[in-house]
Amino acid sequence: MSSSSSQAPSRVWLVTGAGRGLGRAFVEAALGAGDRVVATLRQPPALDDLAKDHPATLRALALDVRERAAVFATVERAAALFGRLDVVVNNAGYGLVGTVEEVTELDAREQMETNFFGALWVTQAVLPVFRAQRSGHVVQVSSVGGVGTMPAFGLYNASKWALEGFSEALAAEVAELGIRVTIAELGGFATDWAWSSMRFAEGLAAYDGLRERTFGTPRLPWDMSQKASDESADPAEAARALVAHVASGAAAPLRLLVGADAPGHVAAALAARRDDYRKNAAFVWPA
Ligand SMILES: NC(=O)c1ccc[n+]([C@@H]2O[C@H](COP(=O)([O-])OP(=O)(O)OC[C@H]3O[C@@H](n4cnc5c(N)ncnc54)[C@H](OP(=O)(O)O)[C@@H]3O)[C@@H](O)[C@H]2O)c1
Repeated sequence: MSSSSSQAPSRVWLVTGAGRGLGRAFVEAALGAGDRVVATLRQPPALDDLAKDHPATLRALALDVRERAAVFATVERAAALFGRLDVVVNNAGYGLVGTVEEVTELDAREQMETNFFGALWVTQAVLPVFRAQRSGHVVQVSSVGGVGTMPAFGLYNASKWALEGFSEALAAEVAELGIRVTIAELGGFATDWAWSSMRFAEGLAAYDGLRERTFGTPRLPWDMSQKASDESADPAEAARALVAHVASGAAAPLRLLVGADAPGHVAAALAARRDDYRKNAAFVWPA
């Protein structure tokens, strides 16, 4: 198979949560690279404009990643649309603000249902397709918050650490089957993530000081009108990095740092862990 725009092989992508933000940017970048895309999203009309411009190479399917049976049916349908799947991007996700004491059972379960279980179901559903092809690439959209943590983001951190945990094991399980895994650790990008998509637990007064120090305000939700001054990076930049990574060889890292601020956040998180381990007298940090 060859792309219309280059000698590079044309790939078929499946991207979850593709209606806006990073997911939409991944779709646009893959189409721009001459690839074909099955975009899954909760509100398919959100991609009507793109579908009009790419009638032969883009298909949009409705999917809420929390629904396991729907995930399996949609992945099967997606694989049939273009006859194969090459890259599956588990992008759907959202953030939750609330200290461990503040989050309700529902807050916690919903966070895990989307960010962790949603990605797990999609991964499970696509593995038989990839095994039959003896090729395929699973991309997990994690975060620098999947390496370090931040007060009042503990459940979000837990969801991304859990995603990273099974994905690292998965990489070792499927390498010999010709299947590649990438854990993309993103820094900050200007999407709705910190704004209209963010969910907030009900704050206890005991944590007002923490919120003031962490977010500059004790009030939740914070002031959404400040989105206009969000100077985070353009999601298109993350998408270009991902497309380049997918095209790179299997020697590329399991963990892909995405965004100018990502290496610094990860280095700080690892240094903090190292320093904590060093408080154990018997522990020697490996050279
Ligand atoms: N932006 C950042 O700075 C940043 C940094 C690190 C990691 N990330 C990660 O990047 C991913 C994309 O976030 P974003 O920044 O693009 O935020 P966004 O603009 O809020 O987009 C999130 C997308 O996820 C979808 N989604 C949420 N729950 C879903 C569900 N149950 N089923 C299907 N789709 C669902 C949303 O769909 P609807 O439109 O239907 O709501 C939306 O399309 C997330 O996993 C996030 O944690 C973002």
